[in-house]
Amino acid sequence: MARKPLSRSGRFSGGPDPEVSAYSESVSYDRALAPHDLAGSIAHATMLAKSGLIPARDGARIVSGLRRLAREVKEGRFAWDPVLEDVHMNLEAALTRRVSAGARLHTARSRNDQVATGLRLWTRETCAGLGAAIAQLQAALVRLADRARLSRPSAGLPRGHLLPMPGYTHLQRAQPILAAHHVLAYVEMLERDRARFADCARRAGECPLGAGALAGTGLRIRRALTARLLGFRAPSANSMDAVSDRDFAAEFLFAAALTGVHLSRLAEDLILWSTVEFGFLALPESHTTGSSLMPQKRNPDVAELGRGKTGRLVGNLVALLTVLKGLPLAYNRDLQEDKEPLFDSARTLAATLSVFRGMLDGARFRPEACLRALADPSMLATELAEELVRRGTPFRAAHHAAGAAVRLAEERGVPLDRLSAADWRKAHPLFPSCAKTALDLRRALQRRDAVEGAPGPRQVEARLRVWRRRRAR
Ligand code: ARG
Repeated sequence: MARKPLSRSGRFSGGPDPEVSAYSESVSYDRALAPHDLAGSIAHATMLAKSGLIPARDGARIVSGLRRLAREVKEGRFAWDPVLEDVHMNLEAALTRRVSAGARLHTARSRNDQVATGLRLWTRETCAGLGAAIAQLQAALVRLADRARLSRPSAGLPRGHLLPMPGYTHLQRAQPILAAHHVLAYVEMLERDRARFADCARRAGECPLGAGALAGTGLRIRRALTARLLGFRAPSANSMDAVSDRDFAAEFLFAAALTGVHLSRLAEDLILWSTVEFGFLALPESHTTGSSLMPQKRNPDVAELGRGKTGRLVGNLVALLTVLKGLPLAYNRDLQEDKEPLFDSARTLAATLSVFRGMLDGARFRPEACLRALADPSMLATELAEELVRRGTPFRAAHHAAGAAVRLAEERGVPLDRLSAADWRKAHPLFPSCAKTALDLRRALQRRDAVEGAPGPRQVEARLRVWRRRRAR
């Protein structure tokens, strides 16, 4: 005789068509919810017993049966049956097979509030795990930023000074920055990502149990007790919202997608920097691959895969939003499609965070290449204009004069700092007396110490200290 899921007993004479079974089962992936489903059931059974809705002895038997199931699941000894549809039915059926009191567990509960509860518990736990993994990646970035220093005096800067390099806009060399400043920009991004996961976990902190299928129950349950037992802030306020809300899941997917976008941008910087053309950074051999054809190649595959996997992180978010759009209240089976995007994003992001950490710990900046790229003094042309501003020239006129100097240098085929006194004067009468000071890299960087958030060496050192302290293990 075909086995029947519990939900078909009574009303149905047999099991579903095997093709339907295969199409609609979710236990092949939602078994990931097992520990959370069991925790929800333990809290529910405890509440039922305390409320006098089931005999206390049955409550105790159910709870110990559920604890045993939790151990079996953890040790991989539990036999999942796809005919029983999902993780919830599998666990309940197993419990009831062993403990006859198990038949009382589903009192005042529906799979709809049950699955919403399990998924919220999963989300909260996963947010915490990803938040910790993000913090570890930040720590690796802080270490990389801290290593980006001059090993000997160069470009008028002392040994140990934070390494300067070109900063870019439009991927054109723009102004000198410090490598540490560039790297710490990602630390700041990731800090917002961490906050988003924490925020998502907080908003997932309401307990749907007791919402029933959609309309609660006529039995006198104590929702606040169940919520408290599970560490939720409070029971959810509206039973229909409780069973159909997946905002927390969408928020989780957005937080994961945006973290992925940040990691993808980081990957792109690392890929560019490790080209022969840039040469600013060397990736560790352990995190690069060779080419099957070209013996000289060393490819940044890990960074590229991280960049590529952002596709599915964004895709998973879009998938869930599309599932939710136009769903009538309350529960609809479409909602089962929330799980695979969630699990995939969690797995993908955790793996990327971890492998990137190893890649960054092995990466090192190449000071010679960074300094070589900074050698062209025209990257300090803005300093020329600002020097004139300091001496009273309106910025637009100063910008014009500095531009004229750059053009003259180009026409003469000389670096900007090699213009003759006559040419400087031609560009602006004040230049002969101040251009040299303006074009000094060390001074240009130091001037940035007066502006909050700018790449002045003292400020970047201070920010590095803040992050070292926050991420110290
Ligand atoms: N596996 C289902 C899901 O993930 C559980 C809820 C089923 N409820 C129902 N009324 N069929 O959504």
